[in-house]
Amino acid sequence: MSTHPSQISLVAAAPERLPVTLPRLADMKRLGEPIVMVTAYDFPSARAAEAAGVDIVLVGDSGAMTVLGYPSTVAVELDEMLVLAKAVRRGLRTPLLVGDLTFGSYEASDEQAVRSALRFVKEAGCDAVKLEGGGRVSVARARAIIGAGMPVMGHVGLTPQTATALGGYRAQGRSAAAAARIADEALALQDAGCFSIVFEAIPSDVAAVLMERIEVPVIGIGAGPATDGQVLVFHDLLGIREGLGARFVKRYASLQEEMVAGVAAFAGDVRTRRYPEDQHGYAIDKDELSSFRGRLT
Ligand code: KIV
Repeated sequence: MSTHPSQISLVAAAPERLPVTLPRLADMKRLGEPIVMVTAYDFPSARAAEAAGVDIVLVGDSGAMTVLGYPSTVAVELDEMLVLAKAVRRGLRTPLLVGDLTFGSYEASDEQAVRSALRFVKEAGCDAVKLEGGGRVSVARARAIIGAGMPVMGHVGLTPQTATALGGYRAQGRSAAAAARIADEALALQDAGCFSIVFEAIPSDVAAVLMERIEVPVIGIGAGPATDGQVLVFHDLLGIREGLGARFVKRYASLQEEMVAGVAAFAGDVRTRRYPEDQHGYAIDKDELSSFRGRLT
């Protein structure tokens, strides 16, 4: 196959993408380059994130609901998340890979938090971990994990693991006092050394004010346009779910409908004997077949 001259210049213009590092993310913030983050939970979603050139992939505990079918993120175990994270690792080369510490895997003590974070890094090959909340306990655990040599991403605003205590899955920081609490939490996580912080479901104007104080890259989800980057859950943005999801979700595909249509078409073909056709089967030499018949009689 010959190479067209235009292909040569294209290849030259598109050097192989380098792995995304923490300094690269800090540079992106400094340069005002939007940071793209998505969740992924398995090999194909990781391959899609890699091919799309996203910057950060989070093996979110949202996987408890999107791929494991739990009613919330509370029940999922660290061991289950590690299975997902290992599959994602096998599909990724360049995005920074972050593992989400599960509810109950880091709160009890600094030792427990470091042990759980180490499992994400050593067993699953994650580059960093994320933990929810900016209260006293979460900040102490973030500090301990960072002290043990692992980068931590913080997460404030709506923190689904403790949604019950927050009054449900609803926007946070909608009063001056509540917004000030989120500010204190974000600043405490930054002081603890978090390399990045997720802002989830807080008013856009509150996020914009906070952005004046936060020096590390902030990734928003339902926090308006002022943050350094945006994250969406893979299954939300591609429509691999029933129902629309939260207000902040923008849907870029309707794969659940396509999956149902595909499986229904297969079922229809099987039931009407339109599948399989000759091209889907394997042949055997006539003599071999008759010899085979002979062996059976
Ligand atoms: O678990 C998750 O998917 C998350 C993102 C929404 C940030 O925490």
